[in-house]
Amino acid sequence: METQLLEADAASIEKAAELLRAGELVGFPTETVYGLGANALNAKAVKKIFEAKGRPQDNPLIVHVSCVEEIAPLVRRIPQAAKKLMEAFWPGPMTLVLPKADCIPDEVSAGLDTVGIRLPSCRAARDLIAAAGCPIAAPSANRSGRPSPTTARHVFEDMEGRIPLILDGGPCAVGVESSVIDATGEMPIVLRPGGITPEMVEAVLGSVRVDEHVMSPLREGDVARSPGMKYKHYAPKAQTIIFDGEADQVIAAICARYDEAEKRGERVAILGFDEHDFGGRTCISLGSVKRPDDAAARLFAALRELDERGETMAFCEAVSTAGIGLAVMNRMGRAAAFHIESV
Ligand code: TXA
Ligand code: MG
Repeated sequence: METQLLEADAASIEKAAELLRAGELVGFPTETVYGLGANALNAKAVKKIFEAKGRPQDNPLIVHVSCVEEIAPLVRRIPQAAKKLMEAFWPGPMTLVLPKADCIPDEVSAGLDTVGIRLPSCRAARDLIAAAGCPIAAPSANRSGRPSPTTARHVFEDMEGRIPLILDGGPCAVGVESSVIDATGEMPIVLRPGGITPEMVEAVLGSVRVDEHVMSPLREGDVARSPGMKYKHYAPKAQTIIFDGEADQVIAAICARYDEAEKRGERVAILGFDEHDFGGRTCISLGSVKRPDDAAARLFAALRELDERGETMAFCEAVSTAGIGLAVMNRMGRAAAFHIESV
């Protein structure tokens, strides 16, 4: 199959909508990461997503809508707390897990009786969903185990030959996937942190719960509230270690470990901040230490770059877990199999 890469304009969006209606897959931009979309109400189309990604069958998909009115037929009920979150943060980088209606195929929900619903803020994404005339099931458009794509080129790298069309809407503004919040009860739980931070949720609801596995690996016997927690995600080929502590000590520790590793013959790179001086050692920028949004927007591209350069070891600077920093540390943590050294 030939994969077309087209700038997301009115004509290519119409073409993509036609493909979706015909049961095909399309790569498309959102404000978080690129999605791999299929008609959410067509089980056969949804199955193709799992094949193209190499995704485990028991990991459910998020259903994307273009406006709030499209949600009612997809869910059994919307608890009061969920309504408050919808009003505060939609359209935007937040997915709400709600009790699913019967029209959602088991292929989408992976057999659960809930479904994740998301109303993205990205104009091209909403235009595409509206033009398709159906809700769109879409995971991140990477092959399973690879970092999520934040540019159309990343999608092309992973999906060339597997899907007919990718819409290019430029680099994603947020850069980490949406916050996934279990909103089936009156006390919502953050299952995956993202652009809508726990602090923001707390400001609306008065309190917030964050699942304990956001910053720790799942151990044998633990039950995953979100199937995605079970899988090793975002992993570059390089062995990855995170250093946490005062900046000066972190920089010194990273430089020392870098030199040791290089002596052993490893190919090494640092993921670090622009203000920090690593003495000419190979460093992939996470942006300014003053702007945690930079790290969110750049992390996945930086992890891909490690692989492109053939690095075998990577040392990363930790960020504060305040605000969107929690989402950055959750993704970086998983890339490092939660190997975090305090210095
Ligand atoms: O920003 C995003 O959310 C992107 C863009 C394309 O919208 N999509 C995305 O999808 O990240 P995906 O499939 O890569 O991640 C969805 C996560 C998985 O960890 C999955 O386990 C969880 O959401 N999830 C989906 N439905 C769920 C449900 N009913 N209950 C609990 N977790 C669910
Ligand atoms: Mg994903």
